[in-house]
Amino acid sequence: MKIIGTGSALPEKEVTNDMLAGFLETSDSWITTRTGIQTRRLLSKETLSELAITAAQNAIKSSGLNPEDIDYLICSNVANSYVSPSLSSIILAPLGCCCPCIDLNGACAGFIYSLDMADAFFKTGRAKNILIVAAEEPSRFCNWHERETSVLFGDGAGAVVLTEGEGFKDFRVTADTHTDVLYYKRSLEVTPYDRVEEKTMPLVMQGREVFKLAVRACIKDVDVMLERNNMTGEDIDMYLLHQANMRIIESIREHLGQPKEKFPTNLQKYGNTSSASIPILMDELSRAGELKDGMTLLLSAFGGGFVTGITIMKWSEIKYEEE
Ligand code: COA
Repeated sequence: MKIIGTGSALPEKEVTNDMLAGFLETSDSWITTRTGIQTRRLLSKETLSELAITAAQNAIKSSGLNPEDIDYLICSNVANSYVSPSLSSIILAPLGCCCPCIDLNGACAGFIYSLDMADAFFKTGRAKNILIVAAEEPSRFCNWHERETSVLFGDGAGAVVLTEGEGFKDFRVTADTHTDVLYYKRSLEVTPYDRVEEKTMPLVMQGREVFKLAVRACIKDVDVMLERNNMTGEDIDMYLLHQANMRIIESIREHLGQPKEKFPTNLQKYGNTSSASIPILMDELSRAGELKDGMTLLLSAFGGGFVTGITIMKWSEIKYEEE
């Protein structure tokens, strides 16, 4: 398969570190030095499904296809205000698509998990054109009285359209059970038979543990991936890494000994948008003309679970109409 269209959408509301310091015991300098994040976009007037629809419409438009040409829709999403129906079901008809659809929760690695699933659909002849929309509102998982988590996240949506082709070289997705380091619990209805009354628990994160797990796992993924494809860090033109923390990206870059220019970032502007971070970055780079025909890209992400995903692909330039 190959990517033939990209799109993204961000909430209008921009929230700076200084704005957070107005009601949390934090500071712009703490957040910037520990994470690299300067500002983030947070849902206020819009809904997540509206963002997802805009991102998807932009991706479909740039692909040159029509909504009815899409024959599978995958939404990468950790949680939204509906438990059921799925986000993909909610956006399907408004997009004008008429195809099977499914949500996939691969935490912050969900976009790469979705690509991996799409790859399997192409290889088994199940689909000719697939739309992946990664749409996330992690700001809604946080306790906004807790500085440890709420300063890290932003909301957003990124989308790609895939068709048959030779763009993707290899995938690796991994998973392990580490439920204690990063979790968000939602309460379910109480039944007469369920003895434990559960409460919604806003996002709990052991920051240092997650940091170490992320660096260790991503370095392993990159090493395995490069080795089994007989490549070195030099052979990758651009690394599109999950936009969680500049220091995590920097650790991976240092391990590879590759120049900073190969590691584009937008976490300064948007914070950690979970699985939407890589497709948003990809859309911005592609529309800015930074992704050239034939470039080799490495995409790598990690997330709660603990899960990781990595892929290597060749880029085919996309033509965008003036907007
Ligand atoms: N503002 C000011 N101080 C803060 C703060 C904030 N927003 N958050 C935590 N602190 C304080 C802590 O209370 C602690 O204080 P203490 O030394 O008095 O106990 C101190 O800063 C250091 O905290 P620590 O957690 O050790 O900092 P850190 O260098 O590990 O950075 C993270 C914290 C969260 C930025 C970092 O661990 C991280 O990015 N982890 C990965 C998170 C992630 O990517 N999650 C998403 C996964 S998809």
